[in-house]
Amino acid sequence: MNAFIEKNLPALLALILIAVSFGGAIEILPLMTQDVVTEPIEGLEPLSPLELEGRDIYIREGCNNCHSQMIRPLRAEVERYGHYTVAGELVYNHPFLWGSKRTGPDLARVGGRYSDSWHRAHLFDPRSVVPESNMPAFPWIFERELDGSTTARKLEVLRTLGVPYTDEQIASAAESVAGKSEAEALIAYLQQLGTLIQERR
Ligand code: HEC
Repeated sequence: MNAFIEKNLPALLALILIAVSFGGAIEILPLMTQDVVTEPIEGLEPLSPLELEGRDIYIREGCNNCHSQMIRPLRAEVERYGHYTVAGELVYNHPFLWGSKRTGPDLARVGGRYSDSWHRAHLFDPRSVVPESNMPAFPWIFERELDGSTTARKLEVLRTLGVPYTDEQIASAAESVAGKSEAEALIAYLQQLGTLIQERR
C-alpha cells in the first residue's frame, strides 16, 4: 500500500490534502468559537473617528510595511515591547495590522511611550530625534487636512462588521474630524495603541 501511494502522484496529493485540511481544521475551528478570541477585553472601545482616520493614514502611508503590531509571547519580545498581544485587544481591527516585517520596532504598545510633540518631530523628520534612523519622513501629513466627508460611512461599514459604534458617534463623526490635520489623526491613533494592557519591564 505504501509503495503504491508513494509512486502514485495523484493519490499522494489527495491524501496529503486530506491530512493537511484535517490538521488545519482541528487547529482553526475551535478558535473561532472560543470567547478568548472573539470577546473584546475589558475596557476595549472602538477607535474614535479621529483615531480611525489616523489608522487609515497609517495604512495609506504604508507604515505597516515596516512596523508590526503583534508582540509574540517570547521573552525577548515581551522585555522589549511589553505584554504580548492578546486576541481580545484586536476584535475591532478590520483589517488587522499585525504585519510581517519589522524594519522598525513593533508598535503594538507604542501608545503613551512618547509625547505628542516627539511624534510630531519624528514623523516630520525622524533624524531630528533619532539620528541613526532610516525611517522616511512624512512632512505632507502636516499640511493636509481631513474634511470628514467619508468618516461617518467608515463607521457605518465597521458597524456592519460588528464594531459597536452608536448612532450618535456616526452622526457626529464628520464634525469631530473636520479641519484636523492628518498628522493629528495619525498621532491620536498611535497614542492609543496597546494602552489597555500596560505592563512594561
Ligand atoms: C521604511 C521603513 C519605515 C516606514 C515606512 C515607517 N517606519 Fe517608523 N520606524 C522605522 C525605523 C527603522 C524606526 C527606528 C528608528 C526610529 O525611531 O526612527 C522607526 C521608528 C518608529 C517609531 C518609534 C518606535 C519606538 O518604539 O521607538 C514610530 C512611532 C514609528 N516609527 C511610526 C511610524 C509611522 C506612523 C509610519 C507611517 C507614517 C512609519 N513609522 C513608517 C522604519 C519605518
